[in-house]
Amino acid sequence: MTIIRADPKSIPHCSHNDKESELIHVDCASHIYPDGSVGIHDMCFYVQKNEIVALCGPNGSGKSTLIEHLNGLLTPSEGSIAVNGKSITTGEHTGLWRDVGIVFQRSDDQLFAPTVLDDVMFGPLNLGMSRDAARTSAMEALAAVGAADLIGKLPNYLSGGQKRLVSIAGILAMKPKIIALDEPTSDLDPVHSGMIEHLILELKQRFGISIVIATHDLDFAARIADRICLVRKGSIYAEGSPAEIFYELPLLQETELKPPQIVQIYLTFCQKMGIVADLHPITIEEMMAAIHWK
Ligand SMILES: Nc1ncnc2c1ncn2[C@@H]1O[C@H](COP(=O)(O)OP(=O)(O)OP(=O)(O)O)[C@@H](O)[C@H]1O
Ligand SMILES: [Mg+2]
Repeated sequence: MTIIRADPKSIPHCSHNDKESELIHVDCASHIYPDGSVGIHDMCFYVQKNEIVALCGPNGSGKSTLIEHLNGLLTPSEGSIAVNGKSITTGEHTGLWRDVGIVFQRSDDQLFAPTVLDDVMFGPLNLGMSRDAARTSAMEALAAVGAADLIGKLPNYLSGGQKRLVSIAGILAMKPKIIALDEPTSDLDPVHSGMIEHLILELKQRFGISIVIATHDLDFAARIADRICLVRKGSIYAEGSPAEIFYELPLLQETELKPPQIVQIYLTFCQKMGIVADLHPITIEEMMAAIHWK
């Protein structure tokens, strides 16, 4: 993968991909909120089969606005969006919610049923599953996120982290083709955060589900993503593999982001040792190998 960098002065850049493997295509989409705020502007973005793509950008850069376009919750003021080759802007795509599941940044936007189990069963029941099948699917999803012990609780009384786990379970239980998670690890302790990380990798590897993540946690993004999209002022500013993007320090600075800790430690190590920092490790294992090799 090579870094593709948008030129802010020229026309928007929409990558041309293998259409066969493309699940979502956002073509120069803009969204202006009713109060005049720009949510996204000339946004060009795509998701391919079986990939994890991370949207990384500062507060207010448009990550959540983009995610809310992916299942038609918001529609663009300009530009178009297609899922599985069918336009959602013209209404050609029906049943979009079956294909694209969104875990919202604010869990309160998602939880509404009287108990956690009812909440997680709601999606599967809506898909037409029997009560028994919906219960099994819900229990599997709750177990996968480490929240099986919460089934009888009122969603309102859950902690912020527990609400997030239950929200993720509610989407998993429907087994969509694409799952978009908005800040999936915020509010979670390191153990639950690690479980979500493991789960996301498993969803991709075992079930072939494509994942979109919006996150400020660049270490998490570096460990988990196949592709990083830097979001700046409502558009994708640059994209590439984690090793490419996270070692481009000027690019990160222009996007108002700080490099992941692994990158900072590796660069400091190389500087102190007087060696060329040319290996670009992005996981602990890669850094140990890089330092050992030197
Ligand atoms: N419902 C809304 N009404 C008006 N403006 C909005 C609304 N939602 C978002 N915005 C504006 O759209 C822009 C993009 O916001 P968005 O929430 O998409 O950013 P974000 O990258 O997800 O930020 P964060 O990292 O803080 O979650 C911001 O300027 C924000 O103020
Ligand atoms: Mg957001």
